[in-house]
Amino acid sequence: MDIIKVNKLSKTFGSLKAVNQISFNVREGEIFGLLGPNGAGKTTTIKMLTTLIKSTSGAALLNGSSINKDQNSIRKSIGIIFQDPSLDDELTGRENLEFHAILYNIKKQHMKEKIAEILKLVELEDKADTLVKNYSGGMKRRLEIGRGLVHEPKILFLDEPTVGLDPQTRRHIWEYIKKLNESKRVTVILTTHYIEEADYLCDRVAFVDHGKIVALDTPKALKAKMGGDIISLGVNMNGSLLESKFKHIKGVKKIVTHDNYVDITIENGEQRIPEVVSIAESNKIIINSVNLHKPSLEDVFIYYTGNKIREEEGSWKNNIRAVMAKRGR
Ligand SMILES: Nc1ncnc2c1ncn2[C@@H]1O[C@H](COP(=O)(O)OP(=O)(O)OP(=O)(O)O)[C@@H](O)[C@H]1O
Ligand SMILES: [Mg+2]
Repeated sequence: MDIIKVNKLSKTFGSLKAVNQISFNVREGEIFGLLGPNGAGKTTTIKMLTTLIKSTSGAALLNGSSINKDQNSIRKSIGIIFQDPSLDDELTGRENLEFHAILYNIKKQHMKEKIAEILKLVELEDKADTLVKNYSGGMKRRLEIGRGLVHEPKILFLDEPTVGLDPQTRRHIWEYIKKLNESKRVTVILTTHYIEEADYLCDRVAFVDHGKIVALDTPKALKAKMGGDIISLGVNMNGSLLESKFKHIKGVKKIVTHDNYVDITIENGEQRIPEVVSIAESNKIIINSVNLHKPSLEDVFIYYTGNKIREEEGSWKNNIRAVMAKRGR
């Protein structure tokens, strides 16, 4: 059964189409991912589905309720964990959960039990009575996820659940998300720009770019659709100049170029490398690196959009480097 049905949902801000007629369905019990670079429209989509902002046009049903008409019943059946932390630092973990339970009119005797269960689930029992300002980043995130579960939502929205966390804590959070999806049968919709996160966690993934869904399927099917292997060449010039040189090689399915790279999707890749190298040599192209691999979700994203998903920290550092280089430092 589809617990979420989204039909041509759009949001414009002035002349910007932040979300542009997207349609997708989410099945009950699924972990569904919206994957895309910064500014793709993921948070805006989540905000419309959780009734925090009004859509410009289109419709969506959550558990049978319309986002345009039944905001109250939707709010009761969902939990939201935002991209930006929203805990009260001056309260303890337990108090944060209690505060949320009161907002949702949860009966007092039931509340105690419920909160104990959640603290156990997110492994914060021994920190329950510590002020949140003394929590680590990962502990705060776990508490937020726990808080999203207090009123027993059928659907949980997680906007960038692991952004800014170290890889180990990130893995931990993934395990909690899997655990609660399995033990509570909560349907989870999450946004992320971490490829491995979507690959590891999601039953199905929608790639979002410039407000549109460009591909949607299970990670496995998305990778399989690529067909063949990928030969990625690092070259001494802008890759886009080189597409025509390689397109006649036998078995080539697609060529995508980005920065100083040419990614050739090809059958039996390992047998084709000599030919690729010899074409490069005869065209006086200097090859800095050659990499052969099976398609990853990142490759699928590049295939559909021609762009890498930018890791925000990475691109931020690169921007600084570019500015410094320009200034001759
Ligand atoms: N309230 C707003 N007013 C004007 N523009 C907005 C507003 N909210 C979002 N936008 C714009 O809409 C686009 C989509 O933003 P959104 O926050 O949905 O992206 P995102 O995919 O969540 O990105 P990120 O990975 O950085 O969180 C961006 O260009 C953003 O600047
Ligand atoms: Mg966002």
